[in-house]
Amino acid sequence: MAIKTISTQVFEGQKPGTSGLRKKVKEFQRSGYLENFVQAIFNTIAPCDGHTLVVGGDGRFFNREAIQVIIRMAAANGFSRLLVGQGGILSTPAASCIIRKHQARGGIILSASHNPGGPDGDFGIKFNGDNGGPAPESLTDSIYQQTLSIDHYLIEDAEDVNLDQLGAYSLAGTAIEIIDPVADYADLMASLFDFERMKALLTNGKFRMCFDAMHAVTGPYAKEIFERRLGAAEGTVINGVPLEDFGGGHPDPNQVHAHELVALLNGDNPMDFGAASDGDGDRNMVLGKGFYLNPCDSLAVMAANAQYIPGYAEGIAGIARSMPTSRAADRVAKKLGIHCYETPTGWKFFGNLLDAGKITLCGEESFGTGSDHVREKDGMWAVLFWLNLIAVRNQPLGEIVKNHWTRYGRDYFTRHDYEAVNSERAADMIERLRGQLPDLPGREFAGLCIESADDFSYTDPIDGSETCNQGVRIFFDNGGRVVFRLSGTGTEGATLRVYFDQYQNDPTLLGQDPQKALATLMDAADQVAGIIEYTGREKPDVIT
Ligand code: G1P
Ligand code: ZN
Repeated sequence: MAIKTISTQVFEGQKPGTSGLRKKVKEFQRSGYLENFVQAIFNTIAPCDGHTLVVGGDGRFFNREAIQVIIRMAAANGFSRLLVGQGGILSTPAASCIIRKHQARGGIILSASHNPGGPDGDFGIKFNGDNGGPAPESLTDSIYQQTLSIDHYLIEDAEDVNLDQLGAYSLAGTAIEIIDPVADYADLMASLFDFERMKALLTNGKFRMCFDAMHAVTGPYAKEIFERRLGAAEGTVINGVPLEDFGGGHPDPNQVHAHELVALLNGDNPMDFGAASDGDGDRNMVLGKGFYLNPCDSLAVMAANAQYIPGYAEGIAGIARSMPTSRAADRVAKKLGIHCYETPTGWKFFGNLLDAGKITLCGEESFGTGSDHVREKDGMWAVLFWLNLIAVRNQPLGEIVKNHWTRYGRDYFTRHDYEAVNSERAADMIERLRGQLPDLPGREFAGLCIESADDFSYTDPIDGSETCNQGVRIFFDNGGRVVFRLSGTGTEGATLRVYFDQYQNDPTLLGQDPQKALATLMDAADQVAGIIEYTGREKPDVIT
């Protein structure tokens, strides 16, 4: 075996987005494409000697090939130990847990999250640091700079490692351990939640639940936790085998893509509790009997009820939410006398706050909720939190949430996505909005008057770093808010996201359909921004 130095050429566009580098599989299959990015990571975090690296992914097409390359490159770059998930599998939150538990230098996670997989689908790669969290912008910027000047990479000339067999191997002085991807993570969950009480609920012969793993990474995690440790009936986990193309589905846990689950929670004889997670296991959708739980409400209700959960019984230090997320959590923070931070979109912005102990819970409207137990959002964790809460409060999910609205008022929220729109037109729309910002206050649209408008920027309270242009916010005089931003995770054209939220505390108006409750705000948004005109679309592709 020998280390080979391979000459390479720069690939344009290896700039990490909201969550790592995400491209079409075909792009990643270009000779040297993956290698360049991996070498750029290693160059940025060098020296690698003597350190441990965690490697795993969501099991999508190209996962195994990529892992073999990373193993050989990590060995050539001097890592002393690699922890690799069996079968190449590690959910994003489990990778975060393992990095922390084994004091690794970091981890490489292969995933394009909720984007479709398969030969014509998407692939992705991200680096998480020694706190288990996504690399901060300073680091992703350095990685990008490396990709612009790279001219060679190092790789060990060796055979493939058997990823399916648990055990230890040695490659040129690097210890390679193929580890159980589930065990450490399941133990962490058992330390936070009241498994006894949840087991009693799941085995009482009345409570019926379903977990939809969407043929993505959470299947093995859900089977171990729900069916083995918590005693739920076999078959509670559906679509539980990770497939390279997610069974042709779109592993995004929302009401559109998780329709099989949605049907089980509605109609005749609905189940009591349903949940789904995404491609890499960091997102969650939670449903009650005939009840859809908005992720913004989820964060707020969790914060208001944290004292019922063993891992949080001593109280929470603070909360953070991404800017487009509704302000429901802010109301809880106020009542608890703690701070609620507003950060740009993307989990990486929670890292410093979590590390500094400023926050315990955090969340995003995009089906992401989490806590300081790891440094990623965590789908299974959120589902277990809710199950634990239902078990303790002995109330259906819908009732818990409705009681919350009665107490705090309801922040109606919805997000409209316009996918694969013309990139230039989308950029023009945002540019035009930015240009209009100073003139918007005082103007009226659809009968609503604009109070203020800005382009969100954020100064990290811990390290002082600044992040600008994070989304145009328009605040109306009725308390409503509209946010416009372009996605940083798409791989085709541009995705325009428009977020609407509006507070309501009239007890007779708490049970409306959000699309109706927010209709005037939607009209106003189109009039201000010209959504239909710029996108050429009459209506959004996805509504969440
Ligand atoms: C999307 C979500 C964002 C989330 C990210 C990674 O990013 O909106 O909240 O952190 O995926 O899961 P976007 O495509 O909007 O940039
Ligand atoms: Zn994800």
